[in-house]
Amino acid sequence: MKLEQRIENGTAKVAVVGIGYVGLPLCVEFPRAGFRTVGIDVDQHKIGSVNRGRSFIEDVASTDVAAAVKAGQLSATNDYTACRDCDIINICVPTPFTASKEPDVSFIEDSGREVARNLRRGQLVILRSTTYPETTEKVLLPILEKSGMKAGRDFHLAFVPERVDPGNRRFTTRTTPVVVGGLTKRCTRLAALFYGRVVERVFQVSSPRAAEMSKLLENIFRSVNIALVNEMALLCERMGSIDIWEVVAAASTKPFGFMPFYPGPGIGGHCILIDPYYLSWKAREYDFHSNFIELAAQTNESMPFRVVDRLFEVLGSNGIPSSKAKLLILGAAFKRDVEDTRHSPAIKVMELLSGKVGRVDYHDPHVPELKLDGKVVRSKSLTPARLRAADCVVILTDHSAFDYGMILKESRLILDTRNAIKRRGPKKLYTLGCQPPARRRR
Ligand SMILES: NC(=O)c1ccc[n+]([C@@H]2O[C@H](COP(=O)([O-])OP(=O)(O)OC[C@H]3O[C@@H](n4cnc5c(N)ncnc54)[C@H](O)[C@@H]3O)[C@@H](O)[C@H]2O)c1
Repeated sequence: MKLEQRIENGTAKVAVVGIGYVGLPLCVEFPRAGFRTVGIDVDQHKIGSVNRGRSFIEDVASTDVAAAVKAGQLSATNDYTACRDCDIINICVPTPFTASKEPDVSFIEDSGREVARNLRRGQLVILRSTTYPETTEKVLLPILEKSGMKAGRDFHLAFVPERVDPGNRRFTTRTTPVVVGGLTKRCTRLAALFYGRVVERVFQVSSPRAAEMSKLLENIFRSVNIALVNEMALLCERMGSIDIWEVVAAASTKPFGFMPFYPGPGIGGHCILIDPYYLSWKAREYDFHSNFIELAAQTNESMPFRVVDRLFEVLGSNGIPSSKAKLLILGAAFKRDVEDTRHSPAIKVMELLSGKVGRVDYHDPHVPELKLDGKVVRSKSLTPARLRAADCVVILTDHSAFDYGMILKESRLILDTRNAIKRRGPKKLYTLGCQPPARRRR
């Protein structure tokens, strides 16, 4: 039976290589669309969890994993020979950067080699990891063709960027449109046919390169706009008489041509911070300097440093010697309502404070423990007594689980880098991007 038919009648089998933040939601969504799915990973803990019907990601319900496993629609393994039995192979491995912020596509290469060893005629391979344009054609394709088979003729190849937004309750995998770019028209058609069974809307582009670039445009758009508002926040602080949050709220009333971005302690996660570097690295190959990207990165990466400077100013102006200050950090995850701490600006701030203040504790309901300077530290409970005991409470992630009323009432001094408390007036409350009213210049 042709692959088209197997997709249409739901008998196509699917592999998901890399069952992390991107792969695990797909491991639940593909069976929901009727496709038997196998997750392939190198992490035994994740494999064991899936096979026991347990999720390890907050956004994915264990009941959904368990239901798919129980129905015989989902299993996980570290054995790539499972690919042989599959019709469609989705690669969702990490694409980090190196210490000098250059792309590290070694996970794509490693998993690609394993897929190539188990490739058979007629299969569709889809790369889902975010990466620079031409990775699918110039990195993955030659590895897969080492199998002796030719892409576009013996097997199919496409790039389908992943858009999952952990913590987003409004848009799910199913309701978020996907972009599909295949090596040939048939590759595109097959990938579109498959994803058309899984999500509500598929948008086809002419090549994997266009699809790769579209993902980078989406993330760089965010990075540049966050940097712009961060820069304006710093200017508002300098001017002393304008509140950036009021300004963004005002600009947001424009019903066209504007969308709000908010200042904060910096950007993190596995996407917005990393992906711009993938494009600026690639651009250099063409003697092209992506100035917007560099400038945005410069501003966003300066924010944790600015938070520490601001904190020291706040402590100083309240007569608290920073070297003795007891601080309580609220939020360690890189953004609201997620447990992901990868490249979290909150952790960067904690690292910058290390050895410079009396004591730093943190509380994050999503992050029970984390590693700081090689040591494991645990989240402290959030109680009125703990808030009162801190010289300053620093809000770095605006989780919705926090009781902001209690935080405002019990804390002696607060630096709210996310405008989570949304109040102006209390003298003990400082917000990034504006000066407290008492200190505004007239
Ligand atoms: N996290 C997000 O919100 C998000 C959103 C959109 C796109 N992306 C992109 O998706 C890709 C994956 O990101 P993620 O957040 O899911 O990463 P992750 O680290 O959560 O998951 C990746 C998984 O791949 C596994 N893995 C590594 N090497 C492997 C190999 N050789 N064979 C099999 N499995 C292997 C890891 O063990 C891990 O479980 C990245 O390119 C990222 O930029 C992530």
